[in-house]
Amino acid sequence: MSDFLRILKRTHYCGDLNATHVGEEVILMGWAHRRRDHGGVIFIDLRDREGLVQVVFNPEISLACHSEAGRIRSEFVLAIKGLVRKRPEGMENPDLKTGAIEVMASDLEILNESKTPPFLLDNTAEISENVRLKYRYLDLRRPEIQKNLILRSRVAAAAREFFYQEGFIEVETPFLTKSTPEGARDYLVPSRVNQGMFYALPQSPQIFKQLLMVSGFDRYYQIVKCFRDEDLRADRQPEFTQIDVEMSFITQEDIIKIMERMMAHLFSVCLGKELSLPFPRISYVEAINRFGKDSPDMRFGLEIHDLTDILMNSGFKLFAEIVSGGGVIKAISIENGTSLSRKDLDELRDYVAQYGAKGLAWARITPEGWTSPIFKFLTPDEVAAINKKMDAREGAVLLFVADSPNVARDALGNLRIHLAKKLMLIDPEKLAFTWVTEFPLFDYSETEKRFVSTHHPFTSPVPEEIPLIETDPDKVHAQAYDLVLNGSEVGGGSIRIHRKEVQKLIFKALGLSDDEAKNKFGFLLDALEYGTPPHGGIAFGLDRLVMLMTGAESIRDVIAFPKTQKATCMLTDAPSQVSVEQLMELSLKIVI
Ligand code: AMO
Ligand code: AMP
Repeated sequence: MSDFLRILKRTHYCGDLNATHVGEEVILMGWAHRRRDHGGVIFIDLRDREGLVQVVFNPEISLACHSEAGRIRSEFVLAIKGLVRKRPEGMENPDLKTGAIEVMASDLEILNESKTPPFLLDNTAEISENVRLKYRYLDLRRPEIQKNLILRSRVAAAAREFFYQEGFIEVETPFLTKSTPEGARDYLVPSRVNQGMFYALPQSPQIFKQLLMVSGFDRYYQIVKCFRDEDLRADRQPEFTQIDVEMSFITQEDIIKIMERMMAHLFSVCLGKELSLPFPRISYVEAINRFGKDSPDMRFGLEIHDLTDILMNSGFKLFAEIVSGGGVIKAISIENGTSLSRKDLDELRDYVAQYGAKGLAWARITPEGWTSPIFKFLTPDEVAAINKKMDAREGAVLLFVADSPNVARDALGNLRIHLAKKLMLIDPEKLAFTWVTEFPLFDYSETEKRFVSTHHPFTSPVPEEIPLIETDPDKVHAQAYDLVLNGSEVGGGSIRIHRKEVQKLIFKALGLSDDEAKNKFGFLLDALEYGTPPHGGIAFGLDRLVMLMTGAESIRDVIAFPKTQKATCMLTDAPSQVSVEQLMELSLKIVI
């Protein structure tokens, strides 16, 4: 056996070999993916990050090599030398990139052995995600995940290329910092040197990037980790990465245009897909009214219609009473709904119940007119008005929710997505980008009984509406914009407040006293007094974006070492207890 690593160098990646290499002698290094013995000949699928290739050990070519190959088990690390040849007629594997060829091994070195892995890499369907995450280094050997992470790296590189070309400067901002207001809980880090004090990990670099504008950097970007202690979902992680951007002397329009070009660059370079610009735009109010969400999935119809006016005085007492109690009646129409059985309709009713909807009335449009449990309560005029408003044609099924505005919105907003999946109305190739604009500056928080910022407190109001901040805060709009792709919020930003008086008005509207404002953001308020230029920016969720670009089901599939839904790391066992000595050094005591 030769000493491969010292004497011989790898010539190719396994997955890169093809018919053009026939006749060449190659040196490959990788993992034994699968092994088959066939009448004295041993076949190994050798795997590296670029793919698999079949290696053949024939005792007639090298007896020593063949006998060593007999020791190979799954995931052994191998170096081989061999000759690329066309596979014999009929033995090609069209499912494999390298399926037209194979490598006849003349030399083999087992570089390392492996224990039997806890799961087979090409059959992880039945393996629980927690087991895969515990052995993440093995899970990461799977070609699909490798492909996702390679694309992620490409996306980050393409973003950097774009920003560099456009004159942006990458600046790093601190992780050990003070609370940044993005609406989630902070991760805190105790200080040893300053006993009893804590740093907060940044929920975003928001304040620092604004300070960089005060400093005159003019165009900043950073691909940066952010930390938020919030409830996790399929598209959220406690630490995630933003493509973070800030610019001076610009308008909302300028930011939207340049960011559309960046998106087009990313999709073109990384996926070979040409996006059509400009992206559509929709106001927040219209998004909520037509789609029931501020991140509307516009790949399909099933839009929501408001029937409150038509049914407010209806003979259907239940509906009339809901309206007189401040409720609304909303509905969606499924164009070809004839396939929906009674059982399906019951299932849909149960589905909306989880959003608090107390019922789901339905109507089928048949050649003879409506078939519906509520038909008998409605006048012919009401039925005609509904048909007209919803453009209901024969074969359609209409679904109605009468409830408080919030419940009706959530129930139907989620129902349309549920239906689109169930009825397979979503074209998987489609990319539906949209900007959502004209957000309200404040939301009223029922729990806190006060106004809170819809985005964050540095978001600029529409200038003409500044006088309303003190009188009618709920009527003020923000100069803010979100970018939505296929129903997911992939980015959000705003023009910022650059005048101290306006910033003070906002803090006041949020119920922050001068002292509190000074204590929390005094350094920003101070900076606003030293010649702050008009500025604004945006941040994209890199993980979410890559998830959508790869078609991954979960954000965890595009992150090398993600956390579970319970914010734990199965691999390292974080978070974990620390020693009493460590706690003492920090003057901390656990009281639970
Ligand atoms: P925002 O809070 O909207 O804005 O965050 C920007 C984008 O980051 C992504 N994102 C997340 N991705 C994964 N896991 C999470 N927990 C998570 N939270 C957010 C989303 C979101 O659109 N400082 C502002 C930006 C600005 O105004 O410039 C900010 O952080 O895709
Ligand atoms: P009922 O007379 O109670 O059988 O209701 C008639 C129909 O109205 C049934 O299909 C119910 O599911 C539906 N329904 C009941 N409450 C609501 C509601 N709040 N919104 C929409 N439909 C409802």
